[in-house]
Amino acid sequence: MFTALTRQPCEQTGFRIPYKMPTIVTFVFLLLSIAVIVTITLVQVNQKEVLSPGLMYGIVLDAGSTRTTVYVYQWPAEKENDTGVVNQTFKCNVKGRGISSYGSNPQELAKPIDDCMDKVKEKIPFHLYRSTPVYLGATAGMRLLRLQNETRANEVLESVQNYFTSQPFEFRGAQIITGQEEGVYGWITANYLMGNFLEKNIWTAWVHPHGAETTGALDLGGASTQISFIPEETTKNSNYTRQVELYGYKYSVYTHSFQCYGKDEAEKKLLASMLQSSNEKSRIKNPCYPRNYETVLTMEYLYGSFCTEFIRPENYNPSQTVNVIGTGDPALCRESVSVLFNFTACQGREDCSFNGIFQPKVKGKFVAFSGFYYTVNALNLTGQFSLADFNSSMWSFCAQNWDQLPFILPKFDETYARSYCFSANYIYYLLVHGYKFNAETWPQIHFQKEVGNSSIAWSLGYMLSLTNMIPPESDQVWFPMNPSLFAGLLLFFTAMALLCLIFLVYSCVVTRMRKNSCHVEHVFAAE
Ligand SMILES: *[C@@H]1O[C@H](CO)[C@@H](O)[C@H](O)[C@H]1NC(C)=O
Ligand SMILES: *[C@@H]1O[C@H](CO)[C@@H](O)[C@H](O)[C@H]1NC(C)=O
Ligand SMILES: *[C@@H]1O[C@H](CO)[C@@H](O)[C@H](O)[C@H]1NC(C)=O
Repeated sequence: MFTALTRQPCEQTGFRIPYKMPTIVTFVFLLLSIAVIVTITLVQVNQKEVLSPGLMYGIVLDAGSTRTTVYVYQWPAEKENDTGVVNQTFKCNVKGRGISSYGSNPQELAKPIDDCMDKVKEKIPFHLYRSTPVYLGATAGMRLLRLQNETRANEVLESVQNYFTSQPFEFRGAQIITGQEEGVYGWITANYLMGNFLEKNIWTAWVHPHGAETTGALDLGGASTQISFIPEETTKNSNYTRQVELYGYKYSVYTHSFQCYGKDEAEKKLLASMLQSSNEKSRIKNPCYPRNYETVLTMEYLYGSFCTEFIRPENYNPSQTVNVIGTGDPALCRESVSVLFNFTACQGREDCSFNGIFQPKVKGKFVAFSGFYYTVNALNLTGQFSLADFNSSMWSFCAQNWDQLPFILPKFDETYARSYCFSANYIYYLLVHGYKFNAETWPQIHFQKEVGNSSIAWSLGYMLSLTNMIPPESDQVWFPMNPSLFAGLLLFFTAMALLCLIFLVYSCVVTRMRKNSCHVEHVFAAE
């Protein structure tokens, strides 16, 4: 009688079943919610694979003063307005010199370009040729030729035009871009590749990176050099500022291009000034060339350029030659480089770099590419390093004998090898005395030539801008799914899953307690 009485509540079926049914239902709900969360996330993550209908291509010819480079870019068709999706897939250096050196024989420039274009054709699917845009942008070499002889510059551009009309691609024109454009496009490329404009947040929406800083851009070509950055304060000096609107954000970019301050033209100016101050009329002792290096240069090489023609000697004879003898003296080289800069024109103003050019104080990170990168690379430096390290590497490089250079340089080429000591000193002078980087701000400069496989060069920014691939408005940015809907769904199902879980744990605990109390009662009753 005792036993029957105590067992009764535990075996009562009406007491257990109401708890079992909801438990099963809740469990199914929990599984469903998890399945939904996983599905939404997977679909979002794999959106690219699910939707990708194919790739698109674009070609840019960077017609620099020393050479022409062909870049092939590629991007997923439906994502053209996303940031960071355009990649460089191929790069070809056109043989020979820059297009501006074809001033007297423009018909000859097509052949070397054609060799590169043949390789380009192998990289792009045949059926996409017609829809692949080709742009040719010429920089300082052509700007100088146009200043010197506009007819010749036009003939060169016409020759390029004629060549490309016979090509299967969609040719969008050959033009000479301005120094400011070159500076801003380089700045756009660097920041685009580094993901400074937009980034994907965890809801897979494109957002402006929180507190994102942009990086300044330092570009050193053969004939000009560009500095572009966002200053501490927006400057009123609109001559030096370009307004850029990207993904709904406005940027005021300070930019300046120093014509004739590319490394080749600067070196020519230096040699020309050395010849003028030399006592001998056909011999230059150059402290920036390595010891034991000797070469013969023509007067045309020294004075034929727009950058040096105004200092031509009275009795200028283009074919006359000059002997140049290297003395490998780093201290003297540093000193001689200073003649290239006019600081008195700044009249002690703080917001002035040199030659009277306005420049706000440098701020934040910088990326130094092209000639800057190749020069420090020859000194075995890359990335970030201190000003003292740069100075000591330069010092030991400049003290090397000419016969040693083939052993310490990874790739030996006479005209590059003889000039590294000059370009290192030139860079030092330009960055420290010109732009006013100091021991503290110098390590903020990152010497880098590419991000991933994409070169940091103005050409990518140029193509992105001309194809409208960086919309000025943010609402034109393409979202994989409305981000608030996605966030809402995810939140709802996560909350469901949590509630189910809490309920399951709760019912489990209650059942346990019942069982235990049953057991206790049972034991009690038995005693
Ligand atoms: C650069 O390094 C050399 C040799 O180490 C040294 O004599 C010179 O003072 C340094 N110059 C600067 C500006 O640090
Ligand atoms: C650069 O490093 C390599 C390998 O460590 C060395 O052989 C070469 O001499 C160095 N070059 C310079 C310019 O210091
Ligand atoms: C990119 O933006 C432009 C306008 O800026 C628009 O015309 C174009 O359709 C957009 N492309 C995609 C794939 O969203």
